[in-house]
Amino acid sequence: MTKYILAFDQGTTSSRSIIFDRNGNIVTVAQKEITQIFPQPGWVEHDADEIWSSQIGVANEALARISLKTSDIAAIGISNQRETTIIWDRKTGKPLYNAIVWQDRRTAADCDELKASGYETIFQHKAGLVIDAYFSGTKLKWLLDHIPNARSQAERGELAFGTVDSWLIWKLTQGELHITDVTNASRTLLFNIHTQQWDDELLSILDIPRYLLPQVQSSSQVYGYTSEGLFGSRIPIAGIAGDQQAATFGQVSLQSGMAKNTYGTGCFIVLNTGNKLTLSNHKLLTTIAWRINGRTDYALEGSIFIAGAVVQWLRDGLGIIKHSAEVESLAGSVPNNGGVYFVPAFVGLGAPYWDSYARGTIMGLSRGSTSGHIARAALESIAYQTADVIDAMRQDSQLDLFELRVDGGASGNDLLMQFQADILGVPIVRPKITETTALGAAYLAGLAVGYWESEAEITSQWQAEKWFEPTISHDHRLTLLDSWHQAIAQTRHR
Ligand code: G3P
Repeated sequence: MTKYILAFDQGTTSSRSIIFDRNGNIVTVAQKEITQIFPQPGWVEHDADEIWSSQIGVANEALARISLKTSDIAAIGISNQRETTIIWDRKTGKPLYNAIVWQDRRTAADCDELKASGYETIFQHKAGLVIDAYFSGTKLKWLLDHIPNARSQAERGELAFGTVDSWLIWKLTQGELHITDVTNASRTLLFNIHTQQWDDELLSILDIPRYLLPQVQSSSQVYGYTSEGLFGSRIPIAGIAGDQQAATFGQVSLQSGMAKNTYGTGCFIVLNTGNKLTLSNHKLLTTIAWRINGRTDYALEGSIFIAGAVVQWLRDGLGIIKHSAEVESLAGSVPNNGGVYFVPAFVGLGAPYWDSYARGTIMGLSRGSTSGHIARAALESIAYQTADVIDAMRQDSQLDLFELRVDGGASGNDLLMQFQADILGVPIVRPKITETTALGAAYLAGLAVGYWESEAEITSQWQAEKWFEPTISHDHRLTLLDSWHQAIAQTRHR
């Protein structure tokens, strides 16, 4: 009988369910946007119940769309927006507060204090991370400090903390499992990536009671089954990974030295460093790529907060395009950027700068500048930010990149991909299946239940759709990068 894998891709803007067949092809997709809640400037929340109801809703929709029974599903794999922080009551299963989303900056000042107290080295050495409001640790502390009675309840063991994967699995199993996987744990600031255990010292610095924490598991194993009555039959839950690690797996960047970039709202560049845990000297993150059958692969990651979102700003903020897709033709209406550089530091700068206080700048405007130049500079900013991260990766890892695999919405923009190849001096490869996040979660689950036999089998399924080769000279590249870095300096010295 033909069986399929059901992948959950619970992302920042939507919940998606994708069903894959044995060849790694998409059989069907169902998707629902989720509400973005902005209670104050810099704060971003989601309704945790809506995360669940939308995710289970699209799963049922996907199954119904092609008339599948749940017994046709060999396993469920989960990938999720990372770092987003939820706490709930273990008895009632009710969240105590909205999910605090990874983009939320409410704990920036707490992070400044932690840095001023000299904790940067210890967090980097143990958790592999920089101290930043991006990660779950200070968000969880904020919840315990601000929700009445939460801390005492947590100390009595009455509450559970989880990233979105934990929350979904709790709901899928009706409270039977309170777990996460190593990739999600490695984004919390609380997890020691050497020992792969929650770390008492980090917990004590952030004042987090251990009882709150989920059990940490591998990224590919049968963790348990969906609870009776949720679907027609119980389905094994067999893969979990944070979405960027899942995308790396879906790009089958399984060897040390392989890298992918996902061009979404932000850009997330992940370089597989194999079994070698590399601590960065250039403010990149050291993170767990996945743990499978006892083997842990590590990665260096550069997280860029604004990428595709700059195109949304051209549409909604500046109003020079009506639909995002128009950016390519507007940017293509001019032969080059005309000396215009745009640093979209709307929420500060992520890797490799980690400057919460930088703000956006458009530099080099002249009387001859047009909306085409601004659109082009906006697109180029995505490629320049990526280039800064890749440059830091090269220096940290001593690995020379031979290609960059791309996915995510803006990877469909040929003008951007060509410029990316030019500015990196490295070929860009876009795969046939760009739903790599969901595919990675499906692969992790499918490997655990024997649906796919081996990593070699899934590697053979990956196919390129288009290559972009670098076309500009090394000197030209350096001149462009020099102007970009002048623009970066402007954003940081207000
Ligand atoms: O670290 C944040 C990342 O996991 C969010 O990804 O695709 O939901 O924007 P995405």
